[in-house]
This record gives sequence, C-alpha cells and structure tokens, in this order.
Amino acid sequence: MTTTINRKACVLGAGVIGAGWVSRFLLMGWDVNVYDPDPEAPRKIQEVMNNALNALPGLYDHKLPESGKLTIAESLEDAVIGSEWIVEAVPERLDFKHKIFRLLEAVADENAIIASSTSGFKPSELQQDSARPKQIIVAHPFNPVYLIPLVELVGDEDTVVNAKHVLDSLGMFPLHVRKEIDAHIGDRLLEAVWREGLWLINDGIATTKEIDDVIRYGFGLRWAQMGLFETYRIAGGEAGMAHFIGQFGPCLEWPWTKLMDVPELTDELVDKIAGQSDQQSGHHSIRELERIRDDNLVSMMRALKGRNWGAGELLNNVDKSLKQPQTQEENKKNASLLKTVERVIPINWTDYNNHMNESRYGQVFSDAATEVMAIIGADQAYVDSGKSYFTVENHIKYISECVAGEEIYVLSKVLLGEGKKLKLQHQMYNAKDELVCTDEQFLLHVDLKTRKSSMPSDEVAKKLAYLFSQHQQL
Ligand SMILES: NC(=O)c1ccc[n+]([C@@H]2O[C@H](COP(=O)([O-])OP(=O)(O)OC[C@H]3O[C@@H](n4cnc5c(N)ncnc54)[C@H](O)[C@@H]3O)[C@@H](O)[C@H]2O)c1
Repeated sequence: MTTTINRKACVLGAGVIGAGWVSRFLLMGWDVNVYDPDPEAPRKIQEVMNNALNALPGLYDHKLPESGKLTIAESLEDAVIGSEWIVEAVPERLDFKHKIFRLLEAVADENAIIASSTSGFKPSELQQDSARPKQIIVAHPFNPVYLIPLVELVGDEDTVVNAKHVLDSLGMFPLHVRKEIDAHIGDRLLEAVWREGLWLINDGIATTKEIDDVIRYGFGLRWAQMGLFETYRIAGGEAGMAHFIGQFGPCLEWPWTKLMDVPELTDELVDKIAGQSDQQSGHHSIRELERIRDDNLVSMMRALKGRNWGAGELLNNVDKSLKQPQTQEENKKNASLLKTVERVIPINWTDYNNHMNESRYGQVFSDAATEVMAIIGADQAYVDSGKSYFTVENHIKYISECVAGEEIYVLSKVLLGEGKKLKLQHQMYNAKDELVCTDEQFLLHVDLKTRKSSMPSDEVAKKLAYLFSQHQQL
C-alpha cells in the first residue's frame, strides 16, 4: 500500500452519504469522479454541494485549498481510473456491495483503498471471495459527511494506517475500531437509544418531539463535548467513576430499559411516529432542515474551537495546517502591504440584519494585528516570555456589508513603529477585490507582569523599524 496522496478520489453511489463524501473531498482540494446510475444524481450532488459550501469553509479561520474538479462518469470503470481512494456508498445490501467489489478487482489500482461506508457490515463480510481482501476496509462516516468529523475505520491494520493519512488530510477524525463487530461502535450506541425511543412512543409515554427535547435540552449538550464516560465521571462527584457505578449500576439490573426487545413496527406504530414527526417538523422541507442542522453544527463546533476542546480542538489543528494568508517570509520579502487575513465569514458571525455583525470586524482586525506581531517577532513565544502588544484605540470605517460564506482578505500597513508605539492600517476586501472596511489601530507594547507599557525587545524593535521604513515608501 502506498502512503502518497495524489488527491484523486472516486465515489460510487451519490446518495445521502456518497454526495457528502463528494463535497468533503472537493472542498478539501481533491479531484473526484462519481458514478451513480440514477439520472437525478448530478442534481442531488449539486444540492448537497451547495449545503457543504454554505457550511464547511466557515468552520475554519483560514481559507481552504482551491476546490478540486468534479467529473460525473458514465461507468464505474471510467470513474475508478487513477483514483487512490474509492468510496463505496451504494445501498446497504451485501449482494450490491459484492457486485461492486468484483468489478473493482478488475479495474482499480491495487494500491487504492476501497473504503465502504457501510453502517452495519463487517470487513470480513465485505471481503468474501475477494482476490485482494486487505484493500477493502470499512470507513463509516456520519451524516452530513462534509461536517461531522468522525469516520470509523475497520479492517487490515496497514490499510487503516494509510487511510488515516487521507482522512486526516480531509480534516476528519479517523477512529480505528480494533475488532470487527456488526454496526461498529457509533451505530451500536445509537441503536440502543433509538430502540428505547421507539418503546417510549409505542407505550404512549412520549412523542417524537418530547424525546428530541430530552436530548437537545439535556444530555445531548453534554454528549457533544464530553461524551458518555467523561460526563459520568463528573456525575460521580469527588468520589469519581467507581462511586457513580456503585450508585447507578444496580439500575441496569432492575431494569429501567427494555433491553434487547424491539416493539413490533406495525403500520399503526409507524403511522404514529411519522404523524408525530410531521407535526414536529413538517413545516420545514428536508433541505431547510439540513441548512438549520448545518448552521447549528457549525456554530456549536466553532464554540468548541474557542475552547480548544473535542471537535473544536480538531478544527484548530486543521487551521494550523491550512495555508496562512501569506507566509511571513513572503511578507517580509515583498516590501508591500502585508496580507494578514484570508478567510470565509462563518454563519455564527452574522446578526439579525443577515450580515456580519460589527463586532466581528474587530475580531478580523485583531487577527490581522496578531499576524503583524508574528511578522515582527512578537509571536506566541514572545508573549509567553512576558511581553506583548495591547490595542488602545481602533477607528473602524464600515464601507459595505459582508454575508456568511463570503471570502475576505485583509492588507495591513505599518503607519508608525517607534519605541512602544505601533500604529496599523488594515484594509478589508471581498473576493471581488472591493474595499469593504478599514481600520486604524493603535497598539502599545506592554510588560505582561506589570501590565504597563514598556519598550519591546531589541530584536522586535529592529524588525518593526525595518517594516515601518518599507511601508513609509508605499
Ligand atoms: N444515510 C445515513 O445516515 C448513513 C450513514 C452512514 C453510512 N451509511 C451507509 O452508506 C451507504 C449508502 O447509504 P445512503 O444513505 O447514502 O443510501 P442512498 O440510498 O441515499 O444512496 C445510494 C445511492 O447508490 C446508488 N447506486 C445504486 N446502485 C449503484 C451502483 N451499482 N453503482 C453506483 N451507484 C449505485 C443509488 O442510485 C443511490 O443514489 C450504505 O451502506 C449505508 O449503510 C448511511
């Protein structure tokens, strides 16, 4: 198996999951070939891609790479040529999947990874009668694939290691499931909750909305940031996990739940659930619900980003690997305005006027100043050593509006760089190179111990003086 990444993927089956994979690969810069016999597939892909474009770039604080090229292939054979990653996302039937794998054996590169999205089948079932079984692994994603980071990987260890490289490069969170098991880990847990939910409806105890409310106003909030066991550790108080199990463990034997029993899915029960669901959410189309879900997910994950926790920590790591607006070397060399920010406006930066709230312009200019500081050597290590710059004055001029999803960049100029004083001018542009906002920002160098103004180090002073002299000539 190879570990090089040629950034060419192929997706077989462009339904809910396949189209999500297509969008994630394209937006992370991969070329993607798709094969799906459904004549509606191109329309469906475009709609999912529109959702992904609305959501994924806004997760990050740096611009994503240039999008890859999408090709709709006429046949599986055409789609597979040159692909190092092949997504199998056809319906959940083993005979369908086997048929695809037999065709792939003849045409796929033997170093390519064949990654099945299957929710339930084990690799050993997928690999039956395969000439190259190690090539086929489970890479089980979660919907929407373009936003949710987790992918459960099951299969040959070497193939899984290579698969991890690819999924890392897509900003995902590959988790190696070490023992194969029906439905992997995530869906095993979900099935237990779902089964219990069906009983609660069947027995007339709760409606679909009431069950969803219990999750979204209650434990769902805890799960999104700490999961099950870390949450229960805290629930045990200072006595910890052993105490928690001692207190609540016996309930498992009473038992509170219906354990493995499943209510019979009679027409009456299905109608009851579908009717309650219509009443709960029928006033939104599925596409509207998808947008609501995506905007909420982006906002929640961005909140976790600020805490550098869970899914937010992953986003911060991806941000570090994304290209910075302009390398510091380029900035120094060019004796021109510094490109200090290049990003997309995330959905949670907009307000009731449906445009970027004025406070967020301040955040963009603060990020621009942080970049200038890094360029003159006042970087994180410098701050850790007890010195920094504080902003004491800002003059922001709003020229035109910015909306969610829009790309912006900032050019910064040193207007004054002497002694303790640093004065910057930032100009924010949109993707059409139209000036949308300007800021004049005055900063003072400070000693972080005394919290009083102080002189910068000689090295920072020297770099700043050089930049100032260059910018005076502009
Ligand atoms: N829906 C989910 O939430 C979810 C989540 C994780 C994993 N999965 C798994 O992903 C896989 C796909 O599920 P889905 O929900 O996207 O199904 P889907 O029905 O939405 O999409 C399947 C697509 O495969 C196409 N297809 C059928 N035969 C084909 C063939 N021979 N070649 C190429 N394309 C073909 C269909 O036209 C359809 O567009 C399943 O294995 C499922 O278990 C689903």
